[in-house]
Formats: sequence, structure tokens, C-alpha cells
Amino acid sequence: MSSGADLRLLRVELNARVVGRELAWLERVLQARISLHFGQGEAPSAPAMAAPALGRDDGDYAELVHAAGLEADERLVLALAVAPHLKPQLLDMLFVRNRNLDRGFSEFGGWKGRSHGGFLPTCETAAFLVAGEDMAHRFALQRLLDEDRPLRRHGLLRLQHDGPGEPWLSAALHVSGDTLERLATGESRKPDYGIGFPARLITTRLGWSDLVLDGEVMDEVQAIVTWYRHGQRLLRDWRLDKALKPGYRSLFYGPPGTGKTLTATLIGQEVGSDVYRIDLSMVVSKFIGETEKNLAQVFDQAQSRQWILFFDEADALFGKRTATSSSNDRYANQEVSYLLQRVEDFPGTVILATNLKANIDDAFARRFQSLVHFPMPDAEQRRLLWEGMVRHTGRLGDDVDLQGLAERHELSGGAIANVVRFGALGALQAGRERIEMADLRRGVAKELRKEGRTA
Ligand SMILES: Nc1ncnc2c1ncn2[C@@H]1O[C@H](COP(=O)(O)OP(=O)(O)OP(=O)(O)O)[C@@H](O)[C@H]1O
Ligand SMILES: [Mg+2]
Repeated sequence: MSSGADLRLLRVELNARVVGRELAWLERVLQARISLHFGQGEAPSAPAMAAPALGRDDGDYAELVHAAGLEADERLVLALAVAPHLKPQLLDMLFVRNRNLDRGFSEFGGWKGRSHGGFLPTCETAAFLVAGEDMAHRFALQRLLDEDRPLRRHGLLRLQHDGPGEPWLSAALHVSGDTLERLATGESRKPDYGIGFPARLITTRLGWSDLVLDGEVMDEVQAIVTWYRHGQRLLRDWRLDKALKPGYRSLFYGPPGTGKTLTATLIGQEVGSDVYRIDLSMVVSKFIGETEKNLAQVFDQAQSRQWILFFDEADALFGKRTATSSSNDRYANQEVSYLLQRVEDFPGTVILATNLKANIDDAFARRFQSLVHFPMPDAEQRRLLWEGMVRHTGRLGDDVDLQGLAERHELSGGAIANVVRFGALGALQAGRERIEMADLRRGVAKELRKEGRTA
């Protein structure tokens, strides 16, 4: 075994020990709370109930607790949320039934999973655990679960409210997948795309120097970078928080293949943040009902990990917002308004992209800090695009005239990339090692036909 693997194993063992201690503490407090509640036994001594010491070198859990600055009550709530995953039997004592009424105790809260047999905690369970019937302490607990407090701000916990009008504390208490992952492996994992998580990490092997945009567009793009880096400082130190909303929302619009997705990816690369692309088709049409929950996951994770969110084909959001025919559309509309609200409230960077500017109404446009137009490249930009994509390969036939191609054919960067691919395949199929002008011409004709134009 390599020493790297050794170290990882040690780390996991240390985490297991430390988390084990934390759960044992949870168990003691819970038992004491229940005994007290039923008038059995004395209030336990303070030392017996004290949180276990967590040193700086007590592994990832300790690190997480220190980084978030969690107090004892918060640690207890976190342990409660973790328990169903790591030691579900620990919560079984909360299944006690109220014999007089032949039902569970409302004050324990909790909900029942579909396949999980154990007790799943709600905020009510947390309130019972840390506060019992002490009303002031309950209020304090409720504040601990606010969005701007460490447990939520650092994305350790997520609340899920179900029925409208139900008590706030009846929300299910979820520990984030990321937190569990860090406890188990000591590493943070990038979440996978799937039904429950409709977003995908996008990356590129290109760099800023490959991007061909005119100065004005570049300025807008630079503003997004600057905001990402210094927005917090402007709000706090410059005290602009009265005037400005915390997030930055930008709408990229322009014809296909003009570099919208590429630019969003490069912004992430520049500021060292992951860019997640949200699949709106998946979000808006299918899995009605689940949508909000899935999107909430994406937004919560994005907030705590400072991702940039990229909504591609955002037309779905501001398309037909009024006309509804089928009930499916109505649901879709509901999801859309939810999504717009989340986009508007999101305190980070959001980029939406579309091909259609015409459909954007003023009310919608006002929600954006910037509207960035990605026009078709002009002849000089097309020359740069051609050059950038093929010059370094050394695979061009002597007759290839990139300048001429750039001047003659109005193609987007994306279309030029297609022509290059087509040309290279053509050369290979003809048994040549170099791309000739004829290969590229055929590629151009094919691209133009696709767009319903002719050369
Ligand atoms: N302005 C540009 N500078 C450099 N390369 C570009 C540019 N525009 C397009 N390209 C090339 O074309 C490819 C496709 O571009 P991209 O996916 O960013 O277009 P888009 O505007 O997002 O298109 P769509 O509207 O179809 O999603 C890029 O990966 C890149 O290789
Ligand atoms: Mg795109």
C-alpha cells in the first residue's frame, strides 16, 4: 500500500473515532432528555452532558466544526442529522409510543422514510433534544437553524419544509451529502449529475488567450470576475449592502456557437470556482414535484461551495410565462417562478444563456446586473478563431488560406470548430495526414447547409 493510501486510511479511522464519540454524546444527551421528560431520574450533571473535546488535530470532523465555528448546541444538532446515516438505531428510543393516545409523541417530531426503517429527525426533534420544554431555549434553537447561521450557511444542514402552513419546526433535518462524504472519506466529492441533482460540472481545456471577443464584451465579462472576487468586500467594507443585492446575475445572449458556454467556463477557471450547468429541460418538464427539491439541492450546494451556476437555454425560463394549456404547463410555470425566485435571491454568481433576446421582457431584464451580447464574430475575429484552432497543429496543407476563409464565410466559432473537425476527418478518410483547402471548403458548405444558407 502506498503511503498516500496509508494516510487516507488513518484519516478515516480518526474520523470514525471522533464521530463515534460525538454520537455517543448525542446518545447520552438524548437519553437524559427523555428520562427527564418522563419524570424519571434527575437532571444529569453538567460534565456528563458536556460536548467531547475536539482538538485541532482531531481530523476532518473537528476541522469542519472549527471552520464553521459550531457551538455545543449546533454540534448536537449536526450529530442528530448525521445519526440516521451512521448509527440509525441510536434514534430508536424516540419511537416510544404515547400509550394514552396510541401514537408517537408530537414533541419528538420526526418523520418516516420510505425504505429506511429508523427514526428520521425533524427540527422539532432537534428542539426537543437541545431545549426540551424550555421555550426561550427553543426560540434560540430555531435561530440556530436560520439560513445565515453556521449550520446552514456552511451548507452542513438542509431543511425541507413540506406542507404549507405546517409549523416551521416540522421541517425534515437533512445533513448534506458533502458533509457525510467528508466524514467518511475526509474528502469533498463533486456531486454527480442525476435525477436528484440536475446540474453538471463543466470544464474546458482552453484558456483566456483562446477566447476571441471584442473589447466591450470582455469588459462585461471582466466585471463578473471582479464581482466574484470583491463583491463581498464591496457589500461589507464599502457598505454598499443597502444599495446592492448580494448576488450577480448575468444574461449572455447571442447566436449559437458564439462562445457563451465557453466564457462561463473560463470565468470559473479564472476565479478558481467550479461552474455547474443546469439542465433546464430536465428541470422544467419532468419529475414534477421533485423539481423544487432537486433544485434546492443545487442552489444550496452552490451557495456553500461558491460555485458559479450556469443556466443554458434559459429561454425556458422566460418563454411563455402566461399562456398555460395543460396541467403540465401549469406545473412547469410553477417551477419556473420558483426558479426565477431562487435565481434572484441567490447570493452568488449566476449566468443564464440564450439564443433569443427578442423574447426577454423588460421586467425580466431588470433582474440582471448585466446583459452581455455575444455577436457573430467579424472577419478579423473569424481569422483569429481559425488560426487559434488549427495553426499550431502543423497539419495544414500548403494551399490552405485561413484569411480567405475568414473573410468569405460568416461562421460562428462553434461552426468553425465543426468545419475543422469535418475537414480533419475528410483528410484522414482520403488517407492524407494534412488538411487541405478542399476539405475545409466542403466542411464550410456543410455548415452553411445546416444553417439553411449556401456558400
Ligand atoms: N468567441 C469564441 N472564442 C473562442 N472560441 C470560440 C468562441 N465562440 C465559440 N468558440 C468555439 O466554439 C465552441 C462552442 O462554443 P460555445 O459552446 O461556447 O457556444 P455557445 O455560445 O454556448 O453556443 P450555444 O448557444 O449553441 O450554446 C467553443 O468550445 C470554442 O471551441
Ligand atoms: Mg452554449
